[in-house]
Amino acid sequence: MSGRKWKIEELKPGMTGEATFWPNPVEGSEFSLRATHFDGRRAPKVVLTRDPRVLGGAPCLVRITAITKPEREDRGTIEVEWIGPAPFRIESVWLDPLVSKKLQVLLQSGLNILLDGPQGCGKTVLARAIAQSLGLEFVFFNCGAVIDASDFFATIQVRASASGAPVTDFVKTEVLEAIEGAAAHPEQRYLVFLDELNRCQESARNALMPALDSTRRVFHPIENRFVPIPDNVQFIAAVNRGREFSGTFSIDAAQLDRFAPLQMDYPPAEEEVKILQNRHPDVAARLIEHVVAVANAIRKAPDISGTLSVRATEETCVYLEHPLFSGDARTAVPEILRSSFCGRFSGRPDDPDTDAGAVWAIVAARLRELSYKVE
Ligand SMILES: Nc1ncnc2c1ncn2[C@@H]1O[C@H](COP(=O)(O)OP(=O)(O)OP(=O)(O)O)[C@@H](O)[C@H]1O
Ligand SMILES: [Mg+2]
Repeated sequence: MSGRKWKIEELKPGMTGEATFWPNPVEGSEFSLRATHFDGRRAPKVVLTRDPRVLGGAPCLVRITAITKPEREDRGTIEVEWIGPAPFRIESVWLDPLVSKKLQVLLQSGLNILLDGPQGCGKTVLARAIAQSLGLEFVFFNCGAVIDASDFFATIQVRASASGAPVTDFVKTEVLEAIEGAAAHPEQRYLVFLDELNRCQESARNALMPALDSTRRVFHPIENRFVPIPDNVQFIAAVNRGREFSGTFSIDAAQLDRFAPLQMDYPPAEEEVKILQNRHPDVAARLIEHVVAVANAIRKAPDISGTLSVRATEETCVYLEHPLFSGDARTAVPEILRSSFCGRFSGRPDDPDTDAGAVWAIVAARLRELSYKVE
């Protein structure tokens, strides 16, 4: 975001951008608030506002109303007025702008949210980033091992007592800890992330859903009583339907109805390239573009079961930035994709009747077009 400094001739009255204001240290000024940056870049003159709608410390969207003394390097001001709060932004995760808008509404309303998208499209990192950017206490819970509804709240552990006889203990899960913590700390908001909700036993999910929604109370298996879910607990669940967006997904309509669903997908190619470039600045941009192009050819191919996540493209970058693979990229890239891409599908790359073989055919064809040496 922090690109080069604006030149004064690039800024004109009427332009809009984001800014965060702080009290103006100049005493007696008619402008109570001041900012040093406009739309993520350093401003060539101090940015001032007297608009009472601007709140200090909160990012907002503003419009330039006047620029004084544009010809002077050392003097002059940029005056702005308030348009609205800054759009909700989550650092480090790319999110479709429409999904982002909906997410903002759902988070403000406190509705349960269901993130629905293919493997490795960013559901888990998004949930973490939401908690971080909104200052919520993040509670991660993987539903894959849940068999009984009570498993959401406690696990049973058996240990030997002093006499040697087995004793069973209930150990609270992170979810129950969060519900208790939220009741004890009403000023703190909690985000409980139920990862892989589609993978837990259906009966357990059946028992959980109404509790999260209408009744907002759950059975405390240790205290043997129902406890309310405080309002400062918000649930976000993630499901992974596989690339075909059908099958494998066994949440029925009535259950789904209790969550506001948000569909996610892989970032567009140019955004995926940016994500990877930021994380692996030593890998040539051109190579990253090629790797993402090949990945997208596979993601779009019909008749292959399974898909390629951003983890797979990132793994390729991990290889490419290593000195052991710093030689001729024209041979290194095919070697890497043979394992990092094909290895994520069933079968073998050299067996064209398997998914791995079909994927290799796509990889090889795309790489040849891009002038790589493919055996
Ligand atoms: N939209 C995105 N923006 C930034 N990084 C992303 C995005 N999508 C995926 N990634 C990166 O890909 C990796 C996998 O992301 P993540 O674990 O969030 O996927 P997921 O959707 O939860 O996958 P799964 O369905 O397998 O649980 C992480 O390293 C993450 O940083
Ligand atoms: Mg995940």
